[in-house]
Amino acid sequence: MYNLLGKEIRGRFGFPSGVITTNSDVARWMFDHVPQFGFYQGKSTTIEPRAGNREDILAQPTPDSLWNAVGYTNPGLAATIEGFKDLRDATPSDVFLMAQIGESNEETFAHCVAEFEAAGDIADGYEVNVSCPHADKGGILIGSDPDSVRSITAATRKATKKPIIVKLNAGVCGLEEIAVAAAEGGADALSAINTIGGPNPELSNQFGGLSGAAIFPTTVDAIARLRKVVSLPIIAMGGIRGAGDIRQLEAIDPNLFYAIGTALGGLTSHEIQEYFEVLVKDLADGTDYAAAMTMNRMLMDYHPFVVSEIDVYTDTVKVIKFHERLDADVDVGQFVFFKVGNTDSKPFSVASNKDRLELLVRGVGPMTNRACQLNVNDVVRVRGPYGQRFSLPHDRPVVLAGAGVGIAPIHHAAQIHPGPKRIFIGAVTAKELVYLDSFRQLGETSVSTDDGSEGFQGYIAQLVEKALAEEGLEDPVFLNCGPEPAMRALDEVQRKYAPPEDIYHVVERYTSCGIGICGKCSIESGERTCVDGPVHSAATFSPGVSHRDLTGKKIRYD
Ligand SMILES: Cc1cc2nc3c(=O)[nH]c(=O)nc-3n(C[C@H](O)[C@H](O)[C@H](O)COP(=O)(O)OP(=O)(O)OC[C@H]3O[C@@H](n4cnc5c(N)ncnc54)[C@H](O)[C@@H]3O)c2cc1C
Ligand SMILES: Cc1cc2nc3c(=O)[nH]c(=O)nc-3n(C[C@H](O)[C@H](O)[C@H](O)COP(=O)(O)O)c2cc1C
Ligand code: FES
Repeated sequence: MYNLLGKEIRGRFGFPSGVITTNSDVARWMFDHVPQFGFYQGKSTTIEPRAGNREDILAQPTPDSLWNAVGYTNPGLAATIEGFKDLRDATPSDVFLMAQIGESNEETFAHCVAEFEAAGDIADGYEVNVSCPHADKGGILIGSDPDSVRSITAATRKATKKPIIVKLNAGVCGLEEIAVAAAEGGADALSAINTIGGPNPELSNQFGGLSGAAIFPTTVDAIARLRKVVSLPIIAMGGIRGAGDIRQLEAIDPNLFYAIGTALGGLTSHEIQEYFEVLVKDLADGTDYAAAMTMNRMLMDYHPFVVSEIDVYTDTVKVIKFHERLDADVDVGQFVFFKVGNTDSKPFSVASNKDRLELLVRGVGPMTNRACQLNVNDVVRVRGPYGQRFSLPHDRPVVLAGAGVGIAPIHHAAQIHPGPKRIFIGAVTAKELVYLDSFRQLGETSVSTDDGSEGFQGYIAQLVEKALAEEGLEDPVFLNCGPEPAMRALDEVQRKYAPPEDIYHVVERYTSCGIGICGKCSIESGERTCVDGPVHSAATFSPGVSHRDLTGKKIRYD
């Protein structure tokens, strides 16, 4: 056991604020599977909800480092407090639960802490973020001045008797003075370091913060400088990859706590679990194997793709075909991000990668409408593919069901699955039945339209129910994709014909990074669809229960 600010905790590791465990579902998964996870650092909350920056919110300059400009995405104070109530119930009693405040002045910081306090015993302490390097207000703008750090810390100190942890940025002039000011204001501990600010053209914000291995030397330097001027406990972070890095920091102070973030980019949840098992063994054995498990290849680099052909279904439903195909073999459900020019980047399922990459685009907003205006010979940039490898069994009948833009991954699945398949596709109206001719060549295909303009009139789940009753398929395996209410209806029908383990859903939650870092795409189990999915079995996932909006707020369908 370790003692952090008076609380006995089970491990001296955590995830830094804003990285991976950014909501209660992901945190719960990690609590349940990572016993070394001893303290939780919530992501920055502000009084009002903030949508944050549009994608790209991350960029990868080197295989082991990231730029980020998330832009304080959060559901606002009231919803964050509700999330913490949920989190408190899920948190083991030997984990220290920290809420992070990302406000801009004494009053607003103190107000947030007071509201948390009024909600009951839902946090063990408060982290004061005066160090975000890309904040439009607050962050490093207030964290570079010792007087403001002192007064903000003192104001939050007055609002609670619980520990205050002040998070620092090593990019400021006079780090030591800032740390002393925090201590004078009443801080009980320090977190260091936040990301180091700088420009990056891939970020929609154009300016962000650098994290990962590139900043580790700065972390070592900062911890050494802090240790000389304050005796407060320090939670060290900034590019830590493994036991070798921890030994370097331990040489400065053997009592540090460690938060590890960027290094875990691209890892599945179970790989993170294994990472921490190996890390503690490394620390005991004097080895450094865990570091080799961390992110060390380019996951976010873009490649130019030239439009070769466009199939126009309607003004807002098009299939864009490129000259190039993705280098990798693309499995069922895998997806890419693509951007038109140097604007925002959004996720799209691979609809085909047989001879060339094909993407189905429905215009619903700025990026997709821009994509619908593309012409032959235009150049876009694509990154990916993302998502776990997944394939369907070859020796059993496979039932594929796709609705709306969910037709895209179902088309790719139908193309690459060599075994027998029965296909169902649904759309609002006949004109939006994308890839119909291709589907008919790939297997027996039935269609539904809401308006009855082609095939069965009604929803796809009704069509599938009718067909299953009439055709009596033996031992089927199901794969669905579409809006979650449609997948929920399909799931309910299919459970009459197969156990949940044989029903799969391609899940398309709000997906902002694709590499497991932002935590936004999580499902209720706490798995992140971009690294653990997007294909999830009905044994662990029920579609159409809830989803998170772009601020991270959980919205229930019912
Ligand atoms: C894994 C995955 C695969 C997808 N495949 C396809 C596809 O093949 N074809 C297709 O047309 N669309 C697909 N989408 C949805 C597509 O990403 C959104 O329609 C697109 O991001 C909208 O961006 P916008 O700027 O046009 O609109 P915005 O105004 O930014 O958003 C409009 C709506 O689109 C959704 N959306 C916006 N951003 C995201 C995001 N980052 N992740 C998920 N949803 C978002 C939200 O519901 C939002 O309300 C997929 C989404 C995911 C997560
Ligand atoms: C995507 C992302 C989001 C972040 N969000 C926050 C945040 O909300 N508040 C904060 O204090 N730090 C935030 N940080 C900084 C981290 O908490 C941490 O200080 C930094 O990433 C260094 O650790 P690492 O190199 O192990 O990732 C964020 C970092 C990343 C990469
Ligand atoms: S964790 Fe960022 S999109 Fe999945």
